[in-house]
Amino acid sequence: MQTMLGIIGGSGLYDMAGLEGASWVKLKTPWGVPSDEILVGRLSGLPVAFLPRHGRGHRIAPADLPAQANIDALKRLGCTDVLAVSAVGSLRVDYAPGDFVLVDQYIDRTTQRPASFFGTGCVAHVSLAQPTCPRLSAQVATAAESAGAKVHLGATYLAMEGPQFSTLAESRMYRSWGADVIGMTGMPEARLAREAELCYASLAMVTDYDCWHEGHGAVDVAQVIATLTANAAAAKATVGALASALPHDRAPCPNGCDRALDHALMTAQDK
Ligand code: ADE
Repeated sequence: MQTMLGIIGGSGLYDMAGLEGASWVKLKTPWGVPSDEILVGRLSGLPVAFLPRHGRGHRIAPADLPAQANIDALKRLGCTDVLAVSAVGSLRVDYAPGDFVLVDQYIDRTTQRPASFFGTGCVAHVSLAQPTCPRLSAQVATAAESAGAKVHLGATYLAMEGPQFSTLAESRMYRSWGADVIGMTGMPEARLAREAELCYASLAMVTDYDCWHEGHGAVDVAQVIATLTANAAAAKATVGALASALPHDRAPCPNGCDRALDHALMTAQDK
């Protein structure tokens, strides 16, 4: 099967220069309109589709993101693999601002977002035991290292509702739960990608120590933007290195991400 890479750009990543034959495509899905038009083109010959998660100009708040439409639009364009880039706070001392982290687990504390393509009428239960794709995550880690980033392969992401940052008591509690990084956009995006049978990797860029670290002040937007700006070049270089490294003809996912629905449907099929 032909590989197509979807890239969901988070805070600080609103455009993707250097795409060959690029054009912005306007899509509508049964789940609504995606966050923005999608930039479709080729990178090192690989078909890619780039979607700014918050829209160009950062206009959509985390709780209002049309995650179903975003994932559905990438799927309809033919994406097989999705690299989701986002900014996160660190909940541990050794994941420092400027580091890149490949998320492999989530604790979902979001409360107000549609979190499935399924429901009454068509019931399905996919596995989220391994919520991100190990193969794609390893490929992204190698690409980020080649781009000069310090990379941690494996982290538990605490997805919070926001838009306010956490209280000190919450930040301490999340650390005691074993969460490593915190952000507002990782869920339900990862759930929906699995339901859409996409290989999904989450590249989290650490921008701050949230508010728990006694040696650092509480996170604010200025700090997040400053770190993202300093890391934008490495994030773009990571995407470029990944596009050069991915095989154009993909083998089935060893984790079964591309077959997630094979044994997930409960509703009887109409004959
Ligand atoms: N995004 C970046 N830093 C964050 C933090 N500390 N909490 C939630 N989302 C974030």
